[in-house]
Amino acid sequence: MPKTKIFCDIADSKTIKEFNKKTIVDGFTTNPSLMRKAGAKSYEKYSKLLLKICKKKPISLEVFSDNINEMEKQALIINTWGKNIYVKIPVINSKGKFTGQLIKRLNKKKIKLNITAVYTVSQVKKINKCLDNRTKSIISIFSGRMADAGKDPVPIIKKAVQITNGKNRVEILWASTREPYNYVQAQKLGCQIITVPPKIIEKISNFGKSFDQLTKDTVKGFLVDSRKSNFKI
Ligand code: G3P
Repeated sequence: MPKTKIFCDIADSKTIKEFNKKTIVDGFTTNPSLMRKAGAKSYEKYSKLLLKICKKKPISLEVFSDNINEMEKQALIINTWGKNIYVKIPVINSKGKFTGQLIKRLNKKKIKLNITAVYTVSQVKKINKCLDNRTKSIISIFSGRMADAGKDPVPIIKKAVQITNGKNRVEILWASTREPYNYVQAQKLGCQIITVPPKIIEKISNFGKSFDQLTKDTVKGFLVDSRKSNFKI
């Protein structure tokens, strides 16, 4: 089974600079909330700053209009900013309207897309029908947010990988990663990409400690804290 690629889920320019150098990182994903958190004032200027730092690895930049025609205009403009861009399109707008026709039009124009905010198998089936296999595209399934809502993302990712199996240019991305073990799960499911916050990428880089070592580290940690607090009975 091919390795699951690790993308870094961040919009902060300094972090992108640091993580762009790491071989473990194959690309980047952003979203409007991450852009806001990074302090972006002008979406265009900030995106172009990120593109100056990350020139080769794929980077997803999302449209932010709620109007489908406006989304299309934004997608066409964003796409002109660089060759390594995947234009991120939400599967629906906030009123629940499926963006399928827009996805089809952009896909026909050979624009690389990342279809985002996906939660169900039925959405994956509908999106898959809108994507031909000439242009690379990504379907981002928000596993962590599902788990936050008490739902198991594993069967959904598994089915999504099966649905898109015949199309080698359509990749399933495990989004909203919550813990390092999600990488192992994504790999087992044959998920092509996982997007991971920087802190969790560092933990994945340190995978491999033995149970013996983990026991020692755990006990040592408790001992150090007990001594620091000068606990006595
Ligand atoms: O970038 C998409 C996704 O990974 C966001 O994750 O942590 O906001 O649920 P989160």
